[in-house]
Amino acid sequence: MTHLLWLLVFVCLIPHGQFQNVPKARGVPRYIRSLIEVNRSHSELLYPHDRQYLIDTINRAQAIKSIPLFFRLPVFGFDFRYIWIHRDGHILFNKGLIDYPTPVKFPIVNIRDPFREEDPSLIAPWLSQQEIPNSIEGAGIYSQLVDLTREKNESLKERIRMDFKDAMVGSADFEPRYAVIVTWKNVTHANRMPGSRLKTNTYQVVIATDEKRTYVMFNYDAINWISDKDYYDGQKGTPPFIGFNAGNRTRAYEFEPYSQQPRVSRLPSLGFGNGLNGRFYFQVNEEVWPGSCIERYLDINWSTRPKLTFFPRFGSMLGGTMVNITGPCFPNPLSNIRCKFDNREVDGIYRNPNIVSCISPPIMYHGYVDLSVSIDQGPFLFYGKYYIQPPGMVEGDVNVRYGADKLEVPEQFTIQWNHEKLTRDARAPVIIALWGYREARENYPTLTYIDVLTNESILAGDRQHTLNLTVYKTLSNLDKLDIHFGFIAINLTAPETLSNGNRQSSVLWSDPLPLGWYFRHQWQRKYGKSWKKNICDDWYIGERNRGHFNTTLFRCPCTLEQAKLDVGRFVPDLQCNEFDRNCETFHKAAYHCVTSGRPAVNGAGQSCCYDVHGELIRDSRFSGRPSRAFQFGKHPYKQRMTTPSLSHWLHDISPYFFCCKWAEDENGTESCSKYDYWRPPQDCSRYQPPGVASALGDSRFLTFDRVNYTFNGKGEFVLTRVNDRMHKLDVQGRFEQFQPKYYYMPKINRTHLMAVAAKENVSSVVEFRVRPSVARWQYQMYVIVDNEYVYFWDNKLRVQFFRGVTLYQPIGIYNMSHVVAMFDSGAGVEVKVENGHMTARVYLPSSFLNKTRGLLGKWSRTKEDDFTDPEGEVTVVPGASNYSIHHKFGMKYRVTESANDKIGRSLFFHDAIPFSQYDDMSFIPEYE
Ligand SMILES: *[C@@H]1O[C@H](CO)[C@@H](O)[C@H](O)[C@H]1NC(C)=O
Ligand SMILES: *[C@@H]1O[C@H](CO)[C@@H](O)[C@H](O)[C@H]1NC(C)=O
Ligand SMILES: *[C@@H]1O[C@H](CO)[C@@H](O)[C@H](O)[C@H]1NC(C)=O
Ligand SMILES: *[C@@H]1O[C@H](CO)[C@@H](O)[C@H](O)[C@H]1NC(C)=O
Ligand SMILES: *[C@@H]1O[C@H](CO)[C@@H](O)[C@H](O)[C@H]1NC(C)=O
Ligand SMILES: *[C@@H]1O[C@H](CO)[C@@H](O)[C@H](O)[C@H]1NC(C)=O
Repeated sequence: MTHLLWLLVFVCLIPHGQFQNVPKARGVPRYIRSLIEVNRSHSELLYPHDRQYLIDTINRAQAIKSIPLFFRLPVFGFDFRYIWIHRDGHILFNKGLIDYPTPVKFPIVNIRDPFREEDPSLIAPWLSQQEIPNSIEGAGIYSQLVDLTREKNESLKERIRMDFKDAMVGSADFEPRYAVIVTWKNVTHANRMPGSRLKTNTYQVVIATDEKRTYVMFNYDAINWISDKDYYDGQKGTPPFIGFNAGNRTRAYEFEPYSQQPRVSRLPSLGFGNGLNGRFYFQVNEEVWPGSCIERYLDINWSTRPKLTFFPRFGSMLGGTMVNITGPCFPNPLSNIRCKFDNREVDGIYRNPNIVSCISPPIMYHGYVDLSVSIDQGPFLFYGKYYIQPPGMVEGDVNVRYGADKLEVPEQFTIQWNHEKLTRDARAPVIIALWGYREARENYPTLTYIDVLTNESILAGDRQHTLNLTVYKTLSNLDKLDIHFGFIAINLTAPETLSNGNRQSSVLWSDPLPLGWYFRHQWQRKYGKSWKKNICDDWYIGERNRGHFNTTLFRCPCTLEQAKLDVGRFVPDLQCNEFDRNCETFHKAAYHCVTSGRPAVNGAGQSCCYDVHGELIRDSRFSGRPSRAFQFGKHPYKQRMTTPSLSHWLHDISPYFFCCKWAEDENGTESCSKYDYWRPPQDCSRYQPPGVASALGDSRFLTFDRVNYTFNGKGEFVLTRVNDRMHKLDVQGRFEQFQPKYYYMPKINRTHLMAVAAKENVSSVVEFRVRPSVARWQYQMYVIVDNEYVYFWDNKLRVQFFRGVTLYQPIGIYNMSHVVAMFDSGAGVEVKVENGHMTARVYLPSSFLNKTRGLLGKWSRTKEDDFTDPEGEVTVVPGASNYSIHHKFGMKYRVTESANDKIGRSLFFHDAIPFSQYDDMSFIPEYE
C-alpha cells in the first residue's frame, strides 16, 4: 500500500507538461501502467536476512564490524580484501572518518583526520547517523557472505545469478562467484527525541563479483525518515549521501539527483532493476556506471550533462552494432526514442524503463563520438563517448577462410562468423550480402549495396557457409564494376520490429576484401583479357593527376632496432608484426613491419618492413610502402581521401592486387613497376633518429643532449616546451613528495614523478597518472584525455585516436603500465609505470632541434646550453651543484594555472586534488 502511495506522490509531483507528448491510452497514461506492472513482483525486493546473520555487536556503542573477505573485491579501480560494515548506512574498505562534514563532498581532499584514512573508500546506500531501535524485534544490521562456488542453498545461488545477469546493460555474461549481502533493517535516525514517533528505514546492499567485475544492487524497501539532523521527525535537514567514494583522494560518484536531496524518499518507488521498484544497480569495478534510469526532470538545475551507461563501448565504423543504453527513463514502450551517434540519428528499440537498444549507423569517423538519447523530440541531454573503430583495425566479424578473397581464382570460398553479436537465436535466418566502396562524390562517404551473395537459406547458427563462386560468373552488375573492394555483411532476415513498424538488424561485417572472386568474370567481359592491366593503368593515370604525396612522409628507419626506438612516429603494423606474423598477403618475407602512427600533414602514411636480420626490406614484393591515404584516416574524416580504412583500401591497397598480386603469373613486372612508381618501397637514406630525453621518476633527468642531473621540485613543471611557428608542444610533469611508509616516520624531502600531461598545437590534452597502490591490481595508470578517463578495455582498443594524438598501448601490455602518445608532428611521449614508479621519455624529430626548453634541456647536440631558462639564458652549466640547478634552472619551469607565454599553463586535470595542493614553491629538498 505504501508503495502505491509513493507512486501517487511521484505521479502528482510530475510537473505539468513534462509528459505532454506521451500518448494517453484508455484514461490511464501508459507510463503509469508500466510502473504498476513493475510493482507487482515487489515482494521479492529484499534478499532474505536470517537471524543467524544479524551482527549483534553493532549497537549504540559499537558502530563497525570488520569482516575479512576470502576473495578479491574490485571497487572503483581499487581491490579490497576486507570490509567494514557500518551502522550508519555504508560499507567501508578502510576505517573511515569519525564524522562527515555536511553536505558531504567526496573525495575529501583536505585532510582533517590524519590518524584515520584521509579519504575513505566506501559504498553508501544511506550515509547518515542511525540507531537500532530496541523496541523492534529483528531490527539491526545483517551481513552474509556467499561463496557461489560452494553455496549449498541452490535457490539463493540461482537468485543471485539470475538477478545479476539481468541486472543492467553489459551484465548478461556476468557469472558472479562471490556475493555480500548487507541489510539495514528497521533502523532509525540517531539522537531521536524521546517521545517522538519512531520511524524506521529498511534497505539492503548486495554486492556480487567474479573478482574482475563487480555489480552492486541497492534495495530500498522502506524509507520513512530522510535526515538525521531532525531529531523529532527525521524530515528536515540534509538527507543522506548516496553513492561511492573510491578512496585515496581519487574519484567519487554521487548518485544524482537523489543523494542529499529530499527526493531520496522516492527511492522505494524507482530503480526498476529486475523490474522491481526500489532496486538500483551499478557496475562499480573500475568506474561507477548506474544501471537505472534517471528522471531528468527531477532536478532541472542539474549543471552537468548526465552520463549514459552503455554497452558495448565501441563498434565498427560501418555500423550495425547493437548498443544497449541506460540514461533517461523510458516510461512508455511507444515513445519515440532516438539515439544520436555523432550527428546521425537512429530509432531506439524499447526494452524496459531502463534500457533502450540502438543499432549504430555507419559513422565514417575514427575515435570517440558523442552518443546521446532523446525521448519524444526532447533534448539530447544524456551523453556518452562511444568509440568508432575503422574496419581492418581488428579482425572482422566475418572471416574468409584461408585468405581465399586475396586470390585471383580461389577454388573454394568459405566464410565463417560468430552469431552471438547478431542474435542469440541460432535458428534465425540471415542474409549474406556484398557491399562495396567508391569515392565518387564529395559528400558523406557511404558503402554501396552490390547484391546478396546467395539465395540459399542460411541460419545464424550455421556459423559458416561455402559460397558457390560459379554463380557469379554470369551475373551482370554493370553499374557496379567500378567497385574494386568491399565487405561481406550478414544481417537478420526478420529482425524484431520497432514500435514504428521499422525493422532493424545488427550487422556482422568482414574485413575489407578485394573483389576479384566476385567480379572477375564481369571485369574480363568488360575490359577483355588484360583486365588487370587495364584497371591498373586506370589507377596509374589517376595517380598522375593527383601528383606526388611523398614529400611530408616520415622516412623509414634503417633497422628494426631504430624503428622500435622511434616510438613517436612508428607503431607496429597491426597485422604483420613479430607477434602476430600475419604477413602473407603484402609482406611475405617480412619479420616485422611498422607504420606511421599519425597521418602526415597531407594525409599520407608510411610503412616499413624488416627482415629476420632486422634490416629494412627494399624488395618490392615484401617491402613496406607509403600510402596516399593514411590507413586510419585523417581528421575530420568523412570525406574522400580521409575516410579511415576505406580511402586507404581504395587508393593504396586494392590497386596492388590488380597491378602486382594477381599479375604475378602473367608477365606482370610492367604493371607492378607502375605500382612501384607511385608506391615505391622506401629506403632509409634520409632517416634521422629522433632526439630522446627522459624523466626517470625519482627526480633524475637525462636531457636530449645526454646531461644527467637531479632536481627535486614539488609541483608541476615543464618537461619540454616548444613554441614557434612550426611546432607547439607542451609536455609537463607533476612531482610529488615521497610519502613515508608510515605516518609517524620522518618526512622524506625528495620528490618523484607522478603524472605527465602533453598537448601539441590543437590536439587533445593527454594525461597519465600513477594510480595509488591499492588501485593498481589491474591497471597501473589513469589515462585522461580532455578531462575524460579512457581505458584500453581490451585488445581491440590497443590503438586509440583522438584529435591530433594517438594513444598506443604496446602489444603484450594489458595493464596500462606502458602507453605511448604520438602527435602529428612525430613527437612522442612514452610513459611507463612499474611498482608505482613512473618514467617518461620524450621523442622529437629533428625539426625540433634548437627549439626546446624545459627540464629536459635545450636540444642542440651540445651539452653546454642544456640548462637554458625560459628566457633563453644559459643559467647554469652541466656539473653545477644541485642547489644552483634547483634555484637557477629547475624552479623557473614551474607552471601554474595561469597562462605564461614562456612556460605555458598547467595542462593537468585537477578533478580531485586542486593545483594548490600539489604546488609548493617553498619546498626545500635534500640537495644530495
Ligand atoms: C520494519 O521494517 C519492515 C520492512 O522491512 C516494515 O514492514 C515494518 O513496518 C517495520 N517495522 C517498524 C516497527 O517500523
Ligand atoms: C588508500 O586506500 C587504501 C584502501 O582504501 C587504504 O588502506 C590506504 O590507507 C589509503 N592510503 C592513503 C594514503 O590514503
Ligand atoms: C542488448 O539487449 C538485448 C535485449 O535485452 C539483448 O538481447 C542483447 O544481447 C543486448 N546486447 C548487448 C550487447 O548486451
Ligand atoms: C554451383 O552453381 C552452379 C550453377 O548454378 C551449379 O551448376 C553447381 O552444381 C553448383 N555447385 C555446387 C557445388 O553446388
Ligand atoms: C539486411 O541487409 C540487406 C542487404 O545487406 C539490406 O537490404 C536489408 O535492408 C537489411 N535488413 C535490415 C532489417 O536491416
Ligand atoms: C617522391 O616520389 C617520386 C616518384 O616516386 C620520386 O621521384 C621522388 O624523389 C620522391 N620524393 C621524395 C621526397 O622522396
